[in-house]
Amino acid sequence: MKNNKGYVRLVRIVLLFIFVVILAGSVVRTTHSGMGCPDWPTCFGRIIPPMNAGQLPKDYEKYLDRQDIDHTFNAFHTWVEYINRLCTGVLGFVIIGLIVVSFRKFYKTRPSIAWLSVGLMVIVVIESLLGWLIVRSNLHVDTVTIHLLPIFVMAGICVLMIHKAEGSYRIQDRTLKWISTIALILVFIQVLIGTQVRTSVDITSKALKYLEREKWLSNTGVILTSHELLAWLSAFACVFLFWRSLSYPRLQKLGFLLLVLVIGEMAMGFTLVKMDFPAFAQPAHLVLGSAILVTIFSYRLYFRKRK
Ligand code: HEM
Repeated sequence: MKNNKGYVRLVRIVLLFIFVVILAGSVVRTTHSGMGCPDWPTCFGRIIPPMNAGQLPKDYEKYLDRQDIDHTFNAFHTWVEYINRLCTGVLGFVIIGLIVVSFRKFYKTRPSIAWLSVGLMVIVVIESLLGWLIVRSNLHVDTVTIHLLPIFVMAGICVLMIHKAEGSYRIQDRTLKWISTIALILVFIQVLIGTQVRTSVDITSKALKYLEREKWLSNTGVILTSHELLAWLSAFACVFLFWRSLSYPRLQKLGFLLLVLVIGEMAMGFTLVKMDFPAFAQPAHLVLGSAILVTIFSYRLYFRKRK
C-alpha cells in the first residue's frame, strides 16, 4: 500500500526509539549507574537532577537509606540514569503521536492497527512501573531481566504494524515457514539463556566491586556453555534463512540484515569471553541480540496465513 509509506516510516521511528531505550538501559548497567537516581520517578526529589553535590537537597540521604550503594554523589551515574529515563519518556511521547495518527488513518478501515498502537502505550506504562520496581528492589538481577521482556513485545508489535500497513504480501513456502518458526524459538531461548549469563556476571562483578574483569565469568558454568552451543545453532539457522531468502526478492534485505547481525553478535560474544569484558561489547551484544530476534520475527510474518 503505497499511500501508507509515511505511516510505515513513523512506526520505524518508534522501533528505532525502542532500540535506543534498549541501548540506554544497557549503558546504565555497563556503567553501574542504575542507582544514579535513587528515587523514582523523580531523581533526588527533583525533575532535573543535580549537576554537582552542591545542588543536592539537604535531606538527600533519605533517598539513599534503602539502597546498598556508595552514598557519595556521582553526577556521571545520576545523569546516565536520568538520560535513560528521558529516552523512555521520549518513546512515550512518540507513541502518543503514533496513536493519534493510527486512529485517524486506520480506525475505520483497519482498526487492529489502531489498537496495536494503544497496546504499545500500555506496555510503555508497564515498562515504567517495572523501572520503579527495579529501583525499589535495589537493582535485583531478576527484575532487570523481566524489564527486558515488555520491550521485546513492543518491538514485535511495531513489526506487526509495519507488515499490516504495508499490505498483505505473503509467501507460500511451508518448509521455510517452519524453519523460520524454529529459528525464532531457538533465538528466543538463546536470548533468555543470555540474560541468565548476564545475571551471573552481575552477581560476580558486584562482589568484585566491578574490578578484575577476567574473573566475571567464573561462576557462569553450564549456562555459558549452553549459551555458546546454542549460539552456533542459532547462527546456523540465521545463515540458512539468509541463504533461502535469496530465492525471494521481498526477503533478500531482511536475510542480508540477519546475516550481518548474527556475524556481529557472534563477534561481540567472543569479544566478551576472550577479551575480558570490554565495556563497549556489553551494550553491543544486547542490542544486536535483540535486533536478531526482531528481524527473524519480521521474516516469519511473511508466512502468515492469507485472510
Ligand atoms: C546468536 C547468538 C547470540 C545471541 C542471540 C546472544 C544473546 C545474548 C543476550 C540477549 C544476552 C543478555 C545481554 C544482557 O542482558 O545485557 C547475552 C549475554 C551474554 N552472551 Fe550472548 N548471544 C549470542 C552469542 C554469544 C556467544 C557466541 C558468546 C560467547 C562465546 C556469548 C557470550 C555472552 C556473554 C558472556 C553474555 C553476558 C554479557 C554481559 O553480562 O553483559 N553470546 N547474550
